[in-house]
Amino acid sequence: MESLKIDFGSGYNHKEGYKSCDITFLPNLDYVYDEENDKILYLKEESVDEFYLRNVVHHLKNMQKTFKCLDKYLKKGGIIQIIDVRKEFYNENVFLDKLWYRGIIPREEIWFSENYRDYIDLLKQMNYSMEEYKVENEKEVSIWKKL
Ligand SMILES: C[S@@+](CC[C@H](N)C(=O)[O-])C[C@H]1O[C@@H](n2cnc3c(N)ncnc32)[C@H](O)[C@@H]1O
Repeated sequence: MESLKIDFGSGYNHKEGYKSCDITFLPNLDYVYDEENDKILYLKEESVDEFYLRNVVHHLKNMQKTFKCLDKYLKKGGIIQIIDVRKEFYNENVFLDKLWYRGIIPREEIWFSENYRDYIDLLKQMNYSMEEYKVENEKEVSIWKKL
């Protein structure tokens, strides 16, 4: 059976080979994250092989709740791949997010955390094992397996 990979917080251009998923206000998505009701519409629980989150974690208003929701839909042994800004570059990124989302192209609905939040610690607490970690300039890439 073909594996189910979802680009979560995909925006308009999802990663090739992955299904798209975002919060409700974007059109033409394969799946929709209904944050308020804590579910991903049209998706079966424990059916996903991989969630891919690029530049999304620092936009999650309730990070813990969202990761718990992803966990519900991920198969045992499934993967969460995260690409996000490193702690060392966090303040710089907040400055750019403010400039972009509150200045150049105002999108008040796009939330971002003003402070760095330790998602690595959270995933460890949720019983995920880190399979891979690498630094790519101001970003870090981490791959997590659900035990
Ligand atoms: C900086 S964009 C990244 C888009 C894409 N992943 C990329 O790398 O080009 C952040 C994305 O996260 C989405 N997003 C914001 N809050 C979210 C949430 N609570 N749950 C899921 N996606 C969210 C936004 O709608 C937006 O598409």
